[in-house]
Amino acid sequence: MTASTLVKAGLLAGLPLLLAACEVGPKEIAQSGHRGTGMVQIAQKANLPGPVTIPDEGYRDWEPDRSPDAEKAGQFYQNVQVLGDLTTDEFNRLMVAITAWVSPEGSVENGGCNYCHNPENMASDEVYTKVVARKMLQMTRAINVNWTGHVKQTGVTCYTCHRGQPVPANYWTIDPDAMARMGITGNRFGQNNPDKTGAVYSSLPHDPFTAYLKAADPTERKIRIAGVSAYPVSGAQGATLQATEGTYGLMMHMSDSLGVNCTFCHNTHSFSDWSGSSAQRAVSWYGIRMVRDINEGYITPLTSVFPVNRLGPEGDPFKVNCTTCHAGQNKPLGGIRMIDTFPELARIPAPVVAAAPAQPAG
Ligand code: HEC
Ligand code: HEC
Ligand code: HEC
Ligand code: HEC
Repeated sequence: MTASTLVKAGLLAGLPLLLAACEVGPKEIAQSGHRGTGMVQIAQKANLPGPVTIPDEGYRDWEPDRSPDAEKAGQFYQNVQVLGDLTTDEFNRLMVAITAWVSPEGSVENGGCNYCHNPENMASDEVYTKVVARKMLQMTRAINVNWTGHVKQTGVTCYTCHRGQPVPANYWTIDPDAMARMGITGNRFGQNNPDKTGAVYSSLPHDPFTAYLKAADPTERKIRIAGVSAYPVSGAQGATLQATEGTYGLMMHMSDSLGVNCTFCHNTHSFSDWSGSSAQRAVSWYGIRMVRDINEGYITPLTSVFPVNRLGPEGDPFKVNCTTCHAGQNKPLGGIRMIDTFPELARIPAPVVAAAPAQPAG
């Protein structure tokens, strides 16, 4: 055998390996459904995200005074509308923490406290970011209190989305192309223009967000497209091709944002059947509703507060999708419990109502 035949034989022997797209290296295997259903996630260990370190600007060793008779921020400061129930010590610690989470010194021009404050007058609301941050405080509390069906006791803080920068890395805005007419070549309906954010490089509609994640769906069934009978029945539930493509586009986003495939949530024998689905699918059902509440209830109402460079081409603010929190992990930040050290972000105190005057006796 000559050297060249040896090389050729070697190449040929390696061919099946290449064709099988083998990835060498240790794998991590996690099962999300019953044995035999194929509901298994196989991940390349080397590609799994490493441990996360949340920045600490000195708040971690700060054990705030939480005693019930400690002075409250609402009484001590002039213009505290959301965090009035915190003790001043809890309040000051939280200000240090949100600075580290959202606008640390050096991360951005005027980073630090001044990203939200006029240092001459901390009570003033003249810097727009302070007005935004106040709404975000309400939103974070609402996520942790109203959406435990999704975030459980892990919860979120500003850092879950912001990760040390004023604008989270992953957001979406209404895609003008999804509606644009293309003249004589027709309407692409937002398809065949693959990008990463939307339908993950597929030719499915690449803005699955406006239809499914922007606002509440009064029908609760917009995403459900599977027929209820084997054959089309006149008058029975059924979905158009466009609606079906929209659902699949959204599912591509959900899978990608969590770094999983369809079988993390579905038993592919029937995508619609809940009894065969994993518990994570139910968690996702709440997640979809939570994202709509975040966008519709908290971010869209801020439209007029944001400067134009913080708005998309259609004039709407940067909104949240699954990737904003998850960033490729099935649990954001690897499941670190965020509210353990900030229980004040996991409660919504009842509004203070002036006591009714006592009824005169008699
Ligand atoms: C990401 C925005 C943001 C950053 C950064 C920030 N704050 Fe604040 N700050 C707020 C908001 C919002 C309020 C009002 C909270 C409310 O209404 O409940 C506030 C209120 C205050 C108040 C109360 C003022 C008053 O009299 O009403 C003080 C004091 C304060 N912050 C100090 C600080 C300090 C010190 C820093 C830096 C370590 C800082 N803040 C960083 C958003 C921010
Ligand atoms: C669920 C995700 C999420 C969480 C949690 C969150 N934010 Fe945001 N935040 C966003 C998004 C998305 C934007 C971008 C909106 C835009 O620019 O149109 C934003 C914008 C902001 C801005 C404006 C920044 C700028 O430069 O315009 C501030 C300030 C801010 N957030 C503060 C906070 C604070 C403080 C918290 C915690 C109390 C918080 N956020 C929690 C998603 C989040
Ligand atoms: C993280 C969990 C999750 C992943 C991953 C996921 N799905 Fe879904 N899927 C859901 C949820 C939740 C619903 C129901 C949404 C609703 O009713 O609001 C759903 C609904 C569907 C439906 C509609 C079923 C019906 O009743 O009409 C189809 C089809 C579907 N998914 C296909 C897929 C495909 C294909 C993939 C992979 C590309 C996928 N899903 C990945 C959670 C997931
Ligand atoms: C505001 C941040 C946030 C957003 C936005 C968000 N999630 Fe989550 N999600 C979380 C947190 C926190 C957990 C961890 C809860 C726990 O510890 O079980 C979680 C857990 C999950 C889980 C369970 C994972 C597991 O292994 O048990 C699924 C599935 C999931 N999310 C799907 C979604 C989908 C789909 C979307 C978009 C429709 C979404 N999430 C949007 C914060 C978020």
